Amino acid sequence: MPAIAAATRPLIHWIQRQKALDPLGEKVSGWVHAATRPKSVKNVLSGSWLGHQLHPMLTDLPIGAWGAAVALDLTGGEKTAARRLVGLGILASAPTALAGASDWSDTYGEDKRVGLVHALANASASALQTTSWLMRRRGHHMAGAALSLVALGLTLSSAYLGGHLSFVRGIGVNRTAFQEPADSWTDVATDAEITEGTLRRVEVDGVPVLLVRTAGTVRALSAVCTHAGGPLDEGTLDADGCVTCPWHGSRFRLQDGTVDRGPASVPETCWDVRVDDGRILVRPAG
Ligand code: FES
Repeated sequence: MPAIAAATRPLIHWIQRQKALDPLGEKVSGWVHAATRPKSVKNVLSGSWLGHQLHPMLTDLPIGAWGAAVALDLTGGEKTAARRLVGLGILASAPTALAGASDWSDTYGEDKRVGLVHALANASASALQTTSWLMRRRGHHMAGAALSLVALGLTLSSAYLGGHLSFVRGIGVNRTAFQEPADSWTDVATDAEITEGTLRRVEVDGVPVLLVRTAGTVRALSAVCTHAGGPLDEGTLDADGCVTCPWHGSRFRLQDGTVDRGPASVPETCWDVRVDDGRILVRPAG
């Protein structure tokens, strides 16, 4: 199947170069940012409560329902069941789109353009499925089935773009996933160097670690933001014991690395800290 990759690569590169998409992309992402400003909204849509992104999981619902409807259509299955599956897919596509829009709003440049085309294709597919559902309801089963088949093809083509963003471009991938520091204490600084309220970056086996002293206690987290790799040591320390990433505003609790605010969905790795003879030692928390 290398022919598929050879055929799609030029098309994706073409989309990535289409700067004409940028004004629309910026306008829509501005609306999405405004709608997701409340922490609770951003956290729900990002999957901060789930431990990984919500959107990829939700996509199974509309694709599964629409795929099953087409399977019934093609095998002479029960018409009412097929119509209900089309309707179920339409209902499921709404939260799926919202979660995807939230993720997409924090992308830039070429990724944002591919994501916009992905979204437009999905919106078109949902519109076709809605038309199909209405036609089926009025008794035009064959026309509805044909529309569903076309819409499913469009959805799967769009899913290919989504896969490109996730697996080729790494959008949504935990940026600390491949860090493998040694499971032993490492001397990283003198106790006096870590002053109250300042963010300090050190390295352990090539892994950046953030050291912070708050209320006299030194805390340590991985310094690479799990969302998209932002440098947490260049972020801000908040009065409530969280650090805010400078790139997209994710907030992590220093105490345990958990996400206080998305778009991050994966907690930061927490490190144990020990002070020995005026030296600070850290190791990955067990
Ligand atoms: S890199 Fe996106 S919030 Fe940190």
